[in-house]
Amino acid sequence: MPVRPVPVRRSELATPASNDRMFAKAAGSGADMVFLDLEDAVAPAQREVARAKAITALNEIDWGTTVRAVRINGVDTHWCHDDVIDLVEQAGPNLDTIVVPKATSARDVWFVDTLLTQLETKLGLERRIRLEVLIEDVAGLAHAEEIATVSDRLDALIFGAGDFSVSLGARVDTNFVPTVEYPGDFWHHARSTVAVAARIAGVLAIDAPYPDYRDPEGYRREATRASALGFSGKWAIHPSQVDIANEVFSPTPDEVEHARRTLEAYRDAERNGLGATGMDGKLVDAAHVKLAEELLARADEIGR
Ligand code: GLV
Ligand code: MG
Repeated sequence: MPVRPVPVRRSELATPASNDRMFAKAAGSGADMVFLDLEDAVAPAQREVARAKAITALNEIDWGTTVRAVRINGVDTHWCHDDVIDLVEQAGPNLDTIVVPKATSARDVWFVDTLLTQLETKLGLERRIRLEVLIEDVAGLAHAEEIATVSDRLDALIFGAGDFSVSLGARVDTNFVPTVEYPGDFWHHARSTVAVAARIAGVLAIDAPYPDYRDPEGYRREATRASALGFSGKWAIHPSQVDIANEVFSPTPDEVEHARRTLEAYRDAERNGLGATGMDGKLVDAAHVKLAEELLARADEIGR
């Protein structure tokens, strides 16, 4: 049995909402989710214009099966409430998910959740708009579990290495890689904290953007590390990163085959009254069965 029904979010493609020439390409990119960005990819003077462009794009572009999201401005800005109200009032039926940046506490998410409930009730919307929340502030990381569990609209926590580097005062380059010798994986603690908080809440963990879109190997390396820790997907800041994320975060045919054999071996053992058995000279017990079931559930959701 699947551990939980989860949405598929191997790739989340960022597209500045101010740049409407990029929308059609984003819609056809093959990303599991595209989000039109009203926040840091848009110049402050353009944020209201960008909001209007995002509304038009939601209503007029055929997004196919791609999840349609918008990253709003943070709750500490004067744009946030108008972002939510205008998006939901003018494009609510065509908006699947709102991405909330720079959450520092559960209260930030509660605010957006409550505003959404008021709007959905007023407008009689039948489908609830979902949320994904960026953990990209030291306070957000410290409160990751409360943030992850405050709203049943939440589908994912996203780790934002860029703003997190700022918030932490980290010594990193433009790809958020340390500029000085650092033993081990610099991001292990932050990523792992986000992954654990997400699992406690039963939501997905999505990895950070990787700015150098001409470095596919660097992107693949970071995606692979995140996947090992339990992340389900990664941001893409360029369409060329989407296929890599979709590949890295999909179970491989070998993994699927191994999981199927594990379940068969365990079922044989059960028929013989055993709770554990061996396969290829290795122990198979209840934990291996759960790992295999979760992998097969993920493969199923992705259509492998
Ligand atoms: C994303 O918003 C980041 O700051 O990395
Ligand atoms: Mg950020």
